[in-house]
Amino acid sequence: MSLPWEFHPVDGGRTRLDLLREDDLDALHAIQSDPEVCRYLLYEPRTRDEVERRIAEDSTAVRLEKNDDYVQPAIRDLDGTLLGTMYFHLTSVDDLTAEIGWLLGTPHQGRGHAREAAELVLEQAFDEVGLHRVYAELDPRNAASVALCLRLGMRHEAHFVEHMRFKGEWADTGVYAILDHEWRARRA
Ligand SMILES: CC(C)(COP(=O)(O)OP(=O)(O)OC[C@H]1O[C@@H](n2cnc3c(N)ncnc32)[C@H](O)[C@@H]1OP(=O)(O)O)[C@@H](O)C(=O)NCCC(=O)NCCS
Repeated sequence: MSLPWEFHPVDGGRTRLDLLREDDLDALHAIQSDPEVCRYLLYEPRTRDEVERRIAEDSTAVRLEKNDDYVQPAIRDLDGTLLGTMYFHLTSVDDLTAEIGWLLGTPHQGRGHAREAAELVLEQAFDEVGLHRVYAELDPRNAASVALCLRLGMRHEAHFVEHMRFKGEWADTGVYAILDHEWRARRA
C-alpha cells in the first residue's frame, strides 16, 4: 500500500486527467447545469456560483490518506478541452477500497473518453495507491453508466430495490466492482 498518495496528471492515448482550475468555470458550468447530465446524479443542475465553489474545493483535493479523502480530476482531450470529471473517493483505508464515478458533457459522450479516463483512474488506484477493490454505485436506469462498468470489467454485485428517495421518487441502486487481481488479469 502506498498511502498517502498524491494525485498527478496522467495522459492516455486520447484523454488527459489533471486538476480542475478556475478557468474551467464556464465549461464545467455548461456541463453541470445540463439537466440531461444531472438526470442520474445525486445533485440537481448547478448554478454558476455553486460550480465556482466546487472548483475551489476540488482543485485543492489532491491527497488520499484517510477515509473520505477524494480527488475529482478533470477529464480533458489532448488539446486541453474540458470534457467532464472523474471522481475517486477513498471510502475505507482498512479495506483498501475506493468508489469511482464519472461524468461527461453531452457533446463529449459516446466517444470512449469516459472509458479511457476510468482506466487511468483504475491504473492509479491499483498500481499506485495499491487498493484492493474499486466500486461504482449507480441508478440502474443509467444505461450508459452500466455499460461503462461492464466495459471496464466491473462485476454486477448488488441491486438494491427502492432503497432511496431520489429526486422525488423511490429509486434502485446498482453496485459494480472490480478487485486488484481481476484488474491485473484483464491487463495481462
Ligand atoms: C456515464 C457516461 C460517463 C458514459 O459516457 P460514454 O461516453 O457513453 O462512455 P464511454 O467512454 O465508455 O464511451 C462509450 C461509447 O463511445 C463509443 N466510442 C466511440 N469512439 C470510441 C473509441 N475510440 N473508443 C472507445 N469507445 C468509443 C463506443 O462505441 C460507445 O458507444 P455506445 O454507447 O453507442 O456503444 C455518460 O453517459 C455521462 O456522463 N452521463 C451523465 C452523467 C452520469 O450519469 N454519470 C454517471 C453517474 S453514475
